[in-house]
Amino acid sequence: MAGSLEDELGDILEKSRDGKGWTQSDLARASGIKASDVYRMERYEFVPDENILQNLAEALDLHAPSLIAIAKGRWVPQPIEPDPSPFDIVCLDLFVGTYPVKCYLLTCKATKATAVIDTGGNPEAVIKKTKELNLQLEKILLTHAHFDHAGGLELLDKTFHCPTWIDKREPCPSGSRDLRFLEDGEMIKLGNLNIEVLFTPGHTSGGISYKVHDSVFSGDAIFAGSMGRANSSWPELYSSITQKLLTLPDHTRLFPGHGPATTVGEEKRNNPFFCRTA
Ligand SMILES: [Fe+2]
Repeated sequence: MAGSLEDELGDILEKSRDGKGWTQSDLARASGIKASDVYRMERYEFVPDENILQNLAEALDLHAPSLIAIAKGRWVPQPIEPDPSPFDIVCLDLFVGTYPVKCYLLTCKATKATAVIDTGGNPEAVIKKTKELNLQLEKILLTHAHFDHAGGLELLDKTFHCPTWIDKREPCPSGSRDLRFLEDGEMIKLGNLNIEVLFTPGHTSGGISYKVHDSVFSGDAIFAGSMGRANSSWPELYSSITQKLLTLPDHTRLFPGHGPATTVGEEKRNNPFFCRTA
């Protein structure tokens, strides 16, 4: 499930500035470079040399070697080993317009009970895959209500007649006739599996992750080499990642809503936001 990263240098700079409440001019002043260069970096038009990247990292409290590796295209996470636990994960690469998003089919091997984690914006592809694999969907689990993650809900609900779960603090998505609400630490049964709900807000006010054995479906909280956009709260998102996700064992697999799968250990070693603190 390795692949190109969701976030480039420009995204990392913008999200990091957001955490400090800085404008592009503030970053330019703090790192001693031109504001027009910051502008070009954030528009993916310019990747500076390593000295400038070092200055940017120091100004933004990012881990410089990790930032440089990502900016220069030298790092993607290692392909993850399949979890030896009694379930199968199928990753679906879907698109909302031209924007790629991932949703996942989680199946208990013993019972074939299946949940889809996020619907993507292309529910036809989810339905096609479940038919191909002869799976009967029993549950729809949403990490959050953004359209690219929940936009396919209505058709999946009509097709599979199954309940949908979401955190109680998240805005209610339309399309489910049986919407159920979750709290941090709650367990959801799927066949013989127990799925734990981890409250990981900050990207949205009710963002959650789903943990089954040593695999976590983390929505838009953390990406390989970066973090989600802090739409509701930057400190809360940072804390969700450092306290709820990166405290899990290093071999824990992370399946984000965008970009490649990774592990806790990979992110602790290579994510410029978290190398210093995890
Ligand atoms: Fe999102």
